[in-house]
Amino acid sequence: MAAPLYQIPGQAAPSPPAAPATSAASPAEVQAALAEGVVGARTVAEVLAQSQADTVIAELEHDLIGLAPVKGRIRDIAALLVIDKLRMNLGLQAQAPSLHMSFTGNPGTGKTTVALRMAQILHRLGYVRKGHLVAVTRDDLVGQYIGHTAPKTKEVLKKAMGGVLFIDEAYYLYRPENERDYGQEAIEILLQVMENQRDDLVVILAGYKDRMDTFFRSNPGMSSRIAHHLDFPDYPAGDLLRIADKMLESQNYRFGRGARAAFEEYLLRRIPQPHFANARSVRNALDRARLRQASRLFADRDRVFTPDDLSIIDESDIRASRVFHIAAPQAQT
Ligand SMILES: Nc1ncnc2c1ncn2[C@@H]1O[C@H](COP(=O)(O)OP(=O)(O)OP(=O)(O)O)[C@@H](O)[C@H]1O
Ligand SMILES: [Mg+2]
Repeated sequence: MAAPLYQIPGQAAPSPPAAPATSAASPAEVQAALAEGVVGARTVAEVLAQSQADTVIAELEHDLIGLAPVKGRIRDIAALLVIDKLRMNLGLQAQAPSLHMSFTGNPGTGKTTVALRMAQILHRLGYVRKGHLVAVTRDDLVGQYIGHTAPKTKEVLKKAMGGVLFIDEAYYLYRPENERDYGQEAIEILLQVMENQRDDLVVILAGYKDRMDTFFRSNPGMSSRIAHHLDFPDYPAGDLLRIADKMLESQNYRFGRGARAAFEEYLLRRIPQPHFANARSVRNALDRARLRQASRLFADRDRVFTPDDLSIIDESDIRASRVFHIAAPQAQT
């Protein structure tokens, strides 16, 4: 039987986990032996204890609002990888699974954020050596002149080896209208590496769903190498509101009386307008609200502020947005 193409965690000395796993129920000496990689894991709990991938999965569930279908798919992929690991430990598995993915969805739906977590999960489970993420676009891969593309693409691949290469708006690599476009050269190099070095590099292609579908139709070689397609839906207003709570909380701010309801109203007006970008627009709107709060407080030269004064976003900080004052659909702030 061919030797496994990827590392067994424990033998490969995974990086120290951030927090102890909570779901492991195995006895202490088994735990210790597992940690040292002396024995191969035989149960799901043992694989999880050894890799602590469940910590990352739990954090993802907890930190990210909504995204139920995406979280479900990630759990499925993690389950597949854990079972794969058990199969490998019993000599049933001979080949690295294909883990290349596509993340499709509108701007600000969490694709980059989830890709970072995915890189950690793959690392914990021993599918990539380092678990870092290198995010690129066409310009990082494709050169302007003949002979520039191959070295550029190879340099990026070298940086990404042992981790995840995240290609944003991947379809820009393919420009059928220009016969001699260098993007094709980058695609061909990527295809080779995606096949031959899939034990050490996971590629995630990201972008709008319709454009990605067209790209896959014109590039069957790429399509056939992508094992997992994850769709990131637009967030409903309720999720966006909870994302806003979380973003404020992480910066030690919070909505004051009436401000949260005003922000919900803001969202309902803003969502149908052009260039709305889901969680990214929430982040931008909150940044502007903080600016208004600062200007409001700045005007109060002699007041001694309490922590509350400095943490609370007032209703007026939200309602000053242009979205409340302009009826035209092109209002954007
Ligand atoms: N479900 C979520 N819960 C909490 N915060 C989120 C969630 N989704 C996205 N965010 C936050 O929103 C911002 C935008 O998310 P991210 O960059 O991952 O989106 P994206 O889909 O990659 O967008 P783009 O296509 O514009 O690159 C980030 O600051 C991220 O932390
Ligand atoms: Mg992104």
